[in-house]
Amino acid sequence: MSFLAHSLSNIKPSPTIAVSTKAAELKAQGKDIISLGMGEPDFDTPQNIKDFAIKAINNGETKYTAVDGTPALKKAIISKFKRENNLDYKPNEISVSTGAKQVIYNALIATLNAGDEVLIPAPYWVSYPDMVLLGNGVPVIIDSNAKNNFKISANDLEQKITAKTKWLILNSPSNPTGACYSDKELRALADVLLKHSHVHILSDDIYEHLIFDNLKFATIAEIEPKLKERTLVVNGVSKAYAMTGWRIGYGAGSEKLIKAMGIIQSQSTSCPSSIGQAAACEALNGTQDFIKPNSQLFQKRRDMVVKMLNEITGINCNTPNGAFYVFPSCASLYGKKTPQGIIINNDNDFATYLLEEALVAVVPGIAFGAKDFFRISYAASDEFLADAMKRIAKACQKLS
Ligand SMILES: Cc1ncc(COP(=O)(O)O)c(C=O)c1O
Repeated sequence: MSFLAHSLSNIKPSPTIAVSTKAAELKAQGKDIISLGMGEPDFDTPQNIKDFAIKAINNGETKYTAVDGTPALKKAIISKFKRENNLDYKPNEISVSTGAKQVIYNALIATLNAGDEVLIPAPYWVSYPDMVLLGNGVPVIIDSNAKNNFKISANDLEQKITAKTKWLILNSPSNPTGACYSDKELRALADVLLKHSHVHILSDDIYEHLIFDNLKFATIAEIEPKLKERTLVVNGVSKAYAMTGWRIGYGAGSEKLIKAMGIIQSQSTSCPSSIGQAAACEALNGTQDFIKPNSQLFQKRRDMVVKMLNEITGINCNTPNGAFYVFPSCASLYGKKTPQGIIINNDNDFATYLLEEALVAVVPGIAFGAKDFFRISYAASDEFLADAMKRIAKACQKLS
């Protein structure tokens, strides 16, 4: 009898966390590593949010709270959805968890039966397929390509829907590509979904506020109100407010789903941190003044990184409209030899070469279901980014 669960053999540790761990190990050995592997803003949590959390500690807000979120935070979330997305929710349609990651996990575990299919457009965030597998579901990948800016079409979606489809996961702006769906593109997907009433939509909007080029963020439940009842909108404070370590995410959906997610949470982790929840209240209710300048800063970094990457022979990089990632292709370098005599045959080889030769950590595209690419997170200072791009260029020049 095996000690470990069979379900564990289907899944792998998060590859993005693995890259950052390897980079940290090399750094600890004294190597001058630049890590562009991790997905978190490089700036500090704004001071007003920290102050609010300290006040909450001093006021004794240090005990268990309601399992799926304090009334105060639910109120702040409801106001956020009204203010920013024109969506109306009641408190029993909101669930707060330990990061958006737990919201997604709860939703999948609460709804999947063996064999249920979940549509996942690729390139995808690394955790979606593995969470589906943990719920005994079947991840069904919908491929996209760089020519279409890594976005799926209505036709791509329609072709993959079966009687077993339970969820479609949408993530715009996307990790890892930075792709953003426009109103019109979401409208086309919504028209398909209206014809298939058994398909639910998980809209992961965690990068909502990191959107560039004067594009307006759109979410599918706002675009098509008839889909709201079967959409779980997922969001959180991690990315927009530089609060990854506070671990607060939230979901909004039907009362039935939210209740089921609460049951899973009540028997696993109970409430999210009381202090994190207090801080999230201030993030959502307090000044939003820093969001725009931050987004502009990321846009400037994106421009620099895309330009420097496209100047490298063999690298081709699209210009994404959001998040803080670029997803360039390295396929033109295949067949080339490193100074150590190793042939680069795939994106994994290339990422390993960059780590060893350029001392720059990036994540191979295969981790996101898209071989031949690699992901760079540009949530790093301009100096680090410029240095990293120069190192990548130099390493590529050394290939023969
Ligand atoms: C697409 C996407 N969804 C969800 C998450 C999880 O966010 P949180 O830190 O709130 O758990 C991440 C974090 O990297 C992400 O990139």
